[in-house]
Amino acid sequence: METSLDIQAIRKDFPILQRQVNGQPLVYLDNAATSQTPDQVVNTIVDYYHGYNANIHRGVHTLSQEATDAYEIARQKIQNHFNITHSYEVIFTSGTTHGINLVATGFTSFLKKGDEIVVSAMEHHSNIVPWQMLCERTGAILKVIPMNQEGELLMDAYHDLLSDKTKLVFCNHVSNALGTVNPIEEIIEAAHKVGAAVLIDGAQAAAHIKPDLQALDVDFYTVSAHKMCGPTGVGMLYGKEEWLKKLPPYQGGGEMIAEVTFEKTTYADLPHKFEAGTPNICGGIAFGAALDYMNSIGFDAIAQYEDELMQYATEQLLSIEGLRIYGTAKHKTSVISFNIDGIHPYDIGTILDKLGIAVRTGHHCAQPIMDFYKIPGTVRASFSFYNTKEEVDILVAGVKRAKNMLV
Ligand code: ALA
Repeated sequence: METSLDIQAIRKDFPILQRQVNGQPLVYLDNAATSQTPDQVVNTIVDYYHGYNANIHRGVHTLSQEATDAYEIARQKIQNHFNITHSYEVIFTSGTTHGINLVATGFTSFLKKGDEIVVSAMEHHSNIVPWQMLCERTGAILKVIPMNQEGELLMDAYHDLLSDKTKLVFCNHVSNALGTVNPIEEIIEAAHKVGAAVLIDGAQAAAHIKPDLQALDVDFYTVSAHKMCGPTGVGMLYGKEEWLKKLPPYQGGGEMIAEVTFEKTTYADLPHKFEAGTPNICGGIAFGAALDYMNSIGFDAIAQYEDELMQYATEQLLSIEGLRIYGTAKHKTSVISFNIDGIHPYDIGTILDKLGIAVRTGHHCAQPIMDFYKIPGTVRASFSFYNTKEEVDILVAGVKRAKNMLV
């Protein structure tokens, strides 16, 4: 496999990849659920707790100032990475789900009965349920962009759905269950023509694609650090300044206020208006370290290598009789969802685990996709830049073995 990356050197940054599971070397192919965490990020966490653990924006003492500086530097790293105009448009969250709920709750007072919200047919539950709840609160109507058997959105149908009633459009950048890379440029441009705001769920994209949020002109974009070599429990919501100013705060508490009396409270400026309470300080700083790490490897090289890995895995898996891949879009990344005729995905996943191979099985929090294909779930192998061709071979041999045991 042609790559400029030194995969064996990279793997040394991830000690977990050396461990054994059920007496076999671990083959970790559940990166869409969470990526692994390199030493560089773990060391940042250790340095924080060993050296300058303190609450931020609150103290005059040195530790508090050091922690505040490191946290705000991490915010700037996120700003630079995603090419965001202002650092105060970066809101730290606990992850993508938090970011989506913040926006969905904030839109409650902006919508009225009969307004329309458009989501895609391939959304994660976190990009369906908050909008259904918003519809229940406001009387707005949820419309769905359909998809075809390949797992591609039907863009003509999308354009037909848009009208002056459309107030919001939501779509993932990459589908967690199918790997489809959606045409978000076209989605955003068309939504803006009818005056609708757009939120893109970047949770599955951000480990593979470096989006330029200014060029995309998107209104909101959300990610989770744990999908991109960072820790769990931290993420970012990008919002355009004009929207963040208009949206009400999501939670009340410390940090998000300008002045509090029992008669009236005024809110802090951005980004603090949306960051009530003590945040995941260490997580935010480690998120910045994760971006440094991934950028030191380089997103172009990552994308090229992962694509080759996925093409190779696709060819090898398809050589197994009775195996069907769900999600065969022209533009896809790093996810292969599959089933074998007559075998429940859970049974394949259980046997693979006995062989040390970690995949995810089930509906992947995307039940409408499973309903579309009339299946209970899939086996999902998802790749990262630290995976190898040899690991793909072990996966393929494991799937063959599982098939022989189960058929
Ligand atoms: N949303 C994550 C996944 O797809 C957890 O596995």
